[in-house]
Amino acid sequence: MPERRRILVTSALPYANGPLHLGHIIEQIQTDIWARFQRLRGHECLYVCASDAHGTPVMLRAAKEGLTPEELIASVQQGHRADSAGFLIDCANFHSTHSPENRYFAELIYTRLAAGGHIARRAIEQAYDPERGMFLPDRYIKGECPRCGAADQYGDSCEACGATYTPLELRNPVSALSGATPVRRESEHFFFRLGDFEAMLREWTSGERVQPEVANKLQEWFGEGLRDWDISRDAPYFGFEIPGEPGKYFYVWVDAPIGYMASFQDYCSREGLDFDRYWSPASDAELYHFIGKDIAYFHTLFWPAMLHGAGFRTPNGVFCHGFLTVDGQKMSKSRGTFILARTYLDHLDPEYFRYYIAAKLGAGLEDIDLNLEDFVQRVNADLVGKVVNIASRCAGFIDKRFGGLLAPGAAAAELRAECVAEGEAIAACYEAREYGKAMRRIMALADRANQYIDHEKPWALARDPAQAARVQAVCSAGIDLFRILATYLAPVLPALAARAAAFLRLPLDWASLPASLDGHAIATFTPLMNRIAPERIAAMIEASKGHTEGAATAAAAAPATTQPPIADTIAFEDFAKVDLRVARIVAAEPVAGADKLLALTLDLGGGLRRNVFAGIKSAYAAGDLVGRLTVMVANLAPRTMRFGVSEGMVLAAGPGGKDIFLLAPDSGAEPGMQVK
Ligand code: MSP
Ligand code: ZN
Repeated sequence: MPERRRILVTSALPYANGPLHLGHIIEQIQTDIWARFQRLRGHECLYVCASDAHGTPVMLRAAKEGLTPEELIASVQQGHRADSAGFLIDCANFHSTHSPENRYFAELIYTRLAAGGHIARRAIEQAYDPERGMFLPDRYIKGECPRCGAADQYGDSCEACGATYTPLELRNPVSALSGATPVRRESEHFFFRLGDFEAMLREWTSGERVQPEVANKLQEWFGEGLRDWDISRDAPYFGFEIPGEPGKYFYVWVDAPIGYMASFQDYCSREGLDFDRYWSPASDAELYHFIGKDIAYFHTLFWPAMLHGAGFRTPNGVFCHGFLTVDGQKMSKSRGTFILARTYLDHLDPEYFRYYIAAKLGAGLEDIDLNLEDFVQRVNADLVGKVVNIASRCAGFIDKRFGGLLAPGAAAAELRAECVAEGEAIAACYEAREYGKAMRRIMALADRANQYIDHEKPWALARDPAQAARVQAVCSAGIDLFRILATYLAPVLPALAARAAAFLRLPLDWASLPASLDGHAIATFTPLMNRIAPERIAAMIEASKGHTEGAATAAAAAPATTQPPIADTIAFEDFAKVDLRVARIVAAEPVAGADKLLALTLDLGGGLRRNVFAGIKSAYAAGDLVGRLTVMVANLAPRTMRFGVSEGMVLAAGPGGKDIFLLAPDSGAEPGMQVK
């Protein structure tokens, strides 16, 4: 039994000026999978988050909506919480940076840094909006590029020529808030002397705490020199006032990461945990931050330096991920691909997205593409077609013929042992945040489980009463294989895992994977997951075309979802999924008790055989069919019929009775050939 680790993880605190979108959600999913994995392995792992409540955008948005900032952030925070929960993010505490705990730690850290001589103060000149009576952040000033003259450029960089500059260099600048011409104005600012921490930061970033890509970037940043960081803003500003400095506020990025501590402190007070055990320099707990690559500078330089300078422990790792794109492009409102978390949840099951994102996530910084067509196919094929299918193929026999009891000795001992042994490799992938690799390994096991069932054919054995014990042993093995796979998938698919546990009447946990289920009683099987209907995607995209970015109040009062129209046509892509194959009828038998059915055994070439019930007895005598070719739907999900399981469908046409014509390719065809 490995030592029980004590771990605290965070994901970045989303801004409270708008609702969550799928980009935020992939970060939370990445974090949640890791935390759930650690807990499944028997470790303690707490995940905390919060809304990032401060700053100019929140202040201005509230003013625009006629709300106080407190009112705005309260409603947005509620939305953040609900949306996270909707995606099954198991966050121990979702707090706010506008909280007493955060004020306490922001003041404490600042005071300690100041006492250590790490805060400088000096006057700087900035653009000031004389009409609004406030200093303007770079993004709120527009003008002509000082280098190429392009009109309507922001105060920090030119989209036309890529030049970067300060807003004071813009030609003909205007305030985006009032249209007034900004004036230069001087005020005193406070600076964090990051350079004081260069040696500590070089050491801190030299190990395994950051990814190689980030380490390279850090070398560049060290090369450019670590500049003082401006940590103050003048009133009016929505944030915490700097102690002893009336009218001066902490810049939002000062108290944002401190919000990790505040959220955890709030949790500790409620749950009676010892905060210092996690945050003191002598802590034996591990601390990891999951963030997007855009905020690496804050988390790998400012944050560890602030913690160190204030006498707290530093993180064990900062894990950066890439950005979400949809169909290969940046999320776009006009294309309907700027998808809010809530809009997704109105149309689709969160576990579809969790699985898809897991299947695409690695440990690197590459962007993650949500390809909507691939999304439908991947989820339907892997989760419904492979994993859930294992259970649904075996459960009926156990339930109906063996009273829900698994065999006293299940078959396939070797395959089961191999699946259990694969657990260590899968765990290593999860640990290293190589979720895509973990999913591929799990799906390879699912393929093998299905091949095993294909090979044993319990539905064929079930026709022979002498084979009853074998049917029970094979189906029991199938169900045990399903248990192993559901356990491996539990960090990604917690709701499916819970349904599986209810069906198996067993808690799923990693440590008991090798345990035997001999003689165990399971519950009646109910469908564990449905396929994605492509029209739900279309409806989600349509719904995403309406809203504007950061529509906080609109999201709070989400409109009732409209049902998509019932489809009376199918899309070409749906038709293209039908896998039509040439098959040779190698056996045909009447079915006792069924007037119209023949039980056909079809050969698809390459040793692949399928049992199919076809309602063609009125037109064909069984004996006439053996040896003939026909066309079958080869990828139809197996269906349990009153007489057994049908694993496909043969194509026939006609008005009925004697006039049913089996579709039969000419003799040049070979079994297994695809029909187009
Ligand atoms: N408030 C800051 C973080 C403070 S952490 C102490 C912030 N907020 S944010 O709302 O803009 O972003 C929150 C997180 O979501 C960040 O890690 C960011 O990288 C991530 N993402 C925002 N858009 C994203 C995508 N399109 N794709 C993936 N992640 C994205 O930054
Ligand atoms: Zn330019």
